[in-house]
Amino acid sequence: MHSQADIEVVVGIGDDAAVYRLGGVTLVETVDIITPVVDDPFAFGAISATNSISDVYAMGGTPVAALAISGFPACDYRPELMREILRGAVRVLDEAGAFLVGGHSFDDQELKFGLSVTGVMRQGRVLRVSGAREGEIVVLTKPLGIGILATGLKGGKFSGARMRPAVDWMLTSNRSASEIALSAGASACTDVTGFGLFGHAWNMVRDSETDMVFLRDRIPVLDGVTEMVGASMVPEGAYGNLRFLQGRVDFPDDMPEDERLVLCDPQTSGGLLITLREEGLGRFTESSVFHAVVGHVVKGTGRIRVR
Ligand code: CO
Ligand code: CO
Repeated sequence: MHSQADIEVVVGIGDDAAVYRLGGVTLVETVDIITPVVDDPFAFGAISATNSISDVYAMGGTPVAALAISGFPACDYRPELMREILRGAVRVLDEAGAFLVGGHSFDDQELKFGLSVTGVMRQGRVLRVSGAREGEIVVLTKPLGIGILATGLKGGKFSGARMRPAVDWMLTSNRSASEIALSAGASACTDVTGFGLFGHAWNMVRDSETDMVFLRDRIPVLDGVTEMVGASMVPEGAYGNLRFLQGRVDFPDDMPEDERLVLCDPQTSGGLLITLREEGLGRFTESSVFHAVVGHVVKGTGRIRVR
């Protein structure tokens, strides 16, 4: 038994995951649960697992074990559906070197699935959401627009075939990006999920004496996103994020709302957003990990600026 005095909380509420020391081990713990973004249950399970594990990588940790959490309408329980979702999740956990060790399900109106993931910090260093330093560059490791394309798919305006690249990105693990961020001496890191690029970027600089300056032409966006925004296939969350960021982001006057919405689009299993010194960028360029230098960190008051 461990008394409370044996536990040292290293990172508490407000980051991608909690980090605490217990005995000689530093553990990282997180939980996330999502609704289906694709029709195929195996792919949904795999995407949800990749999304949940991502928060461990966003802290610089290594996942070791997970519990499954699922909600579904009790009157419409299809065991084969749940089996496929779990199979997808276990495939991803296998690749990450982690085990599914249990779980819990509950009655819900719509299908939901996610994981609670426990990891260990093998490196001595934790990648926190805060800590970006003036003069550093900002790197993003997946293109944007996943939420908008998923909305287009649900709305029947975007085909499953055209969705494939977005599905591949959602299935792409942030493991390598996390390892490179650590080796490149990153000062801060988070993963881009429900709050969109700018919501998460704002989280990185809020309450700090720095601003993040984004170069709009450098931000990678998936094919079809502009078309889907034009067809009003924008998730409610993007509007919510944009509203929340009003007064916190300095958009150029000539930037249309359509473009602003893309920068606030909620991502499922999005990329890592990393700040590091320019000298560390070589670690990315010599790797096969997708990365775009989307901006830099300047002295400021916790704002996002766009150029
Ligand atoms: Co996160
Ligand atoms: Co999360």
